[in-house]
Amino acid sequence: MNIEIKQTTESSKAYEIAKSLPEYFDESGLKSIEQDTKNNMLFGAYRDNEMIGFVAYKEINNEAIEMSWLGVLPQYQGKNYGKILVEKSLAELSQKYKVCEVKTLSNSDDYEPYKKTRAFYKSLGFIPIETISPYPGWGNNPCQIFVMFL
Ligand SMILES: CC(C)(COP(=O)(O)OP(=O)(O)OC[C@H]1O[C@@H](n2cnc3c(N)ncnc32)[C@H](O)[C@@H]1OP(=O)(O)O)[C@@H](O)C(=O)NCCC(=O)NCCS
Repeated sequence: MNIEIKQTTESSKAYEIAKSLPEYFDESGLKSIEQDTKNNMLFGAYRDNEMIGFVAYKEINNEAIEMSWLGVLPQYQGKNYGKILVEKSLAELSQKYKVCEVKTLSNSDDYEPYKKTRAFYKSLGFIPIETISPYPGWGNNPCQIFVMFL
């Protein structure tokens, strides 16, 4: 498959991808993504040198990271690119870190788009451990925390 995963500083490209996913990222989410993709560890999935997906990771401490943001352009979803992007970037980060967490909308909220996101995390081996409802800073939204050993 013609896909290259690499660490990158192309945060503006990641931001453009996030803007193409309005069901997932509202205005305040986009503002955070704009900042975090500059400051976090950013990886891109490239097809013919064009970024079609991104994932950002934030260091929690010297053993743990959080997957802070993730997105694949709508027309490239469901083709395994997201899986390759996350698996390859985590394989690289596993040389330093031991565990990765990711927070997402809990299944106690039936908003359809995030059902796919949770199925994606589970398929990669992330384990749901705790739901916090409401999650501070998320309005009334419940947060499900997933973790995976690297
Ligand atoms: C989540 C996301 C990155 C997944 O990327 P993707 O390239 O579409 O996913 P993949 O094709 O690599 O799917 C990998 C596995 O995830 C699971 N999965 C993916 N989409 C699914 C769906 N619609 N329903 C059920 N399972 C699904 C499957 O197990 C799939 O493996 P399979 O195709 O062998 O069955 C992408 O859909 C996306 O950008 N979503 C919107 C943004 C988002 O939710 N970001 C995360 C919150 S910050």
